[in-house]
Amino acid sequence: MNDNITIAPDNVLLAKKMAKRFHIEIMQHIRQNTINIALPGGSTPLMFFRELARHFNDVIPWDKIHIFWGDERCVPNNHKDSNYNLVKKNLLWFIDVPSENIHRVIGENKPPLEVRRYTSELKKFVPIVNGFPRFDIIILGIGDDGHTASIFPNNLNLIKSPDWCSLVRHYNNGQLRITLTGSVINNAKSVFFLASGEKKQAVLQSILAKDNKGMNLPAAHIKPKNGTLEFFLDEKAAGILN
Ligand code: 6PG
Repeated sequence: MNDNITIAPDNVLLAKKMAKRFHIEIMQHIRQNTINIALPGGSTPLMFFRELARHFNDVIPWDKIHIFWGDERCVPNNHKDSNYNLVKKNLLWFIDVPSENIHRVIGENKPPLEVRRYTSELKKFVPIVNGFPRFDIIILGIGDDGHTASIFPNNLNLIKSPDWCSLVRHYNNGQLRITLTGSVINNAKSVFFLASGEKKQAVLQSILAKDNKGMNLPAAHIKPKNGTLEFFLDEKAAGILN
């Protein structure tokens, strides 16, 4: 078993393990004036957010942490599909993070204008290394089609895009989204995949085995150039890896 894979018996214990590891990683950067993180969307991180809210408000220096999103749907911030809305209701309402440290993608803006605005927000707050923003921590989910953030299998070009973020249309439901590109994700110091459930098993095996199918999956192309990559999985997602 690779030492960069952590497997928990179920998604509740996975959230607890991820929260503890996140705390340790944050404390590695405690001497920095600011710590820049990007959070995932989707449903998997819900319990992770709640675990942080319940048990880590007093031990994590939230006043130093600037929160961005790896991707966002182009919907209003109170929409059921809004990734920001999920984080707000399960984490932001319960931690002492200054409002000026929250850098959401403004889903209600005109998407092409928001790509420009979010790009300038990244430039203003996140150190630029090798021409791209360098996050301290990026946490990502994985779709059962192997997408990550909103880089879908038909948008593999975004993995090495010269842009920092991009406007994408979901290939199934046509939903517009704004996503960090692979160039930014792979420029991070630490990247964590958080995945649970049987539906993720097949793509994870391909990604971790680096087999031919895996190479067509965006998540398989997440390899931080000067950083670390860890997988936090429950047993259902890990399958035979376990
Ligand atoms: C999004 C996410 C996306 C998500 C995966 C997994 O906006 O949908 O950023 O990349 O992490 O689709 O979603 P689940 O956690 O709901 O399985």
